[in-house]
Amino acid sequence: MKTYDVIGLGNALMDLLVEVDDNKLLEFNLAKGEMHLVEEDQAKLLLEKINQHQLKIEKVPGGSAANTLKCISFLGGKSILCGKVGTDEHGEIYIQEIQKNGVSTKINTHPSITGHALTFITPDSERTFSVHLGAAIQLAKEDVLEEDIQKSKVLHLEGYQIEGPTKETILHAIELAKKHNTLVSIDLADPGLIRRNKEFLKDLVMNHADIVFVNETEAKEFTGLEPEEAVQELANHVKIAIVKIGKEGSLICKDGIVNFIEPFLTEAIDTTGAGDSYAAGFLYGFCNDWDLEKAGKLGSLLASKVVERIGVNLKDLNSEQLKQEVN
Ligand SMILES: Nc1ncnc2c1ncn2[C@@H]1O[C@H](COP(=O)(O)OP(=O)(O)OP(=O)(O)O)[C@@H](O)[C@H]1O
Ligand SMILES: [Mg+2]
Repeated sequence: MKTYDVIGLGNALMDLLVEVDDNKLLEFNLAKGEMHLVEEDQAKLLLEKINQHQLKIEKVPGGSAANTLKCISFLGGKSILCGKVGTDEHGEIYIQEIQKNGVSTKINTHPSITGHALTFITPDSERTFSVHLGAAIQLAKEDVLEEDIQKSKVLHLEGYQIEGPTKETILHAIELAKKHNTLVSIDLADPGLIRRNKEFLKDLVMNHADIVFVNETEAKEFTGLEPEEAVQELANHVKIAIVKIGKEGSLICKDGIVNFIEPFLTEAIDTTGAGDSYAAGFLYGFCNDWDLEKAGKLGSLLASKVVERIGVNLKDLNSEQLKQEVN
């Protein structure tokens, strides 16, 4: 009956990585180190400028939930992504590449441009983002198929989609999950998002979520508590609560019992995707009936490998070896 481990709903964003010097950032009017959310005109203008300067763009399909699914498939799990791209070249590449990573797709198109996260990397390794959500936020109820949710053990959501037009889509997907005994997992994603939507998220987490992922800052914003108390407070309302504390490790709580998961110490080069890959390791283990500690350890190990590289890059990693290592 449950042929998929995890179905994910997420903003399908093409990650566009560009190496630049500080002068280019000035020319592009981007404050260094910040995340700029831009409209279509501005996004197109920026892409034109990059072309004019003949800067090299590395294109990798991204988005938080999509990254998690990519990692679950890498580990040998079965995952399916429900998202929306534009009717353009990036849309085609997005679908092709995500499928190459072993993720099944239910990705429809919308006549606008594919969402992207332009990431400018300066020589000091700092990152400056210009994000245009484009077609991603057009993901509608009709794009979510009941049978796909029915066939999945877990529905994984990213907090980003609870703002804007995708909010209704998320609520619809949750309703379908409840109907078919599919567990609801959500990563709350960002402290600002929690601040802006606290009442809504409290209701969502307390009444509809089964598994909730937050980092330390998000936990503080959501509960007002430090990690250890926060994870217990959250677990009073959900089956499994997880608070991640970066290189200090993570806490997993179920039925009032808190497990501390050790970090795998390493030299972090780029922490993009730490949370997404951690969720993947945990959910893979959870779907295979591993105990919580072992599932958390796999999340922690995979995340440590991802932060050693630029972007969510799984090349040359051996999933069987990683699974052995947490045994
Ligand atoms: N520098 C690091 N070294 C080793 N492991 C790390 C490091 N940073 C993060 N991790 C691992 O990744 C997990 C999740 O990281 P973090 O707490 O930063 O989550 P997050 O804030 O949700 O991440 P993201 O920035 O991707 O949203 C940690 O619990 C830890 O296991
Ligand atoms: Mg995170």
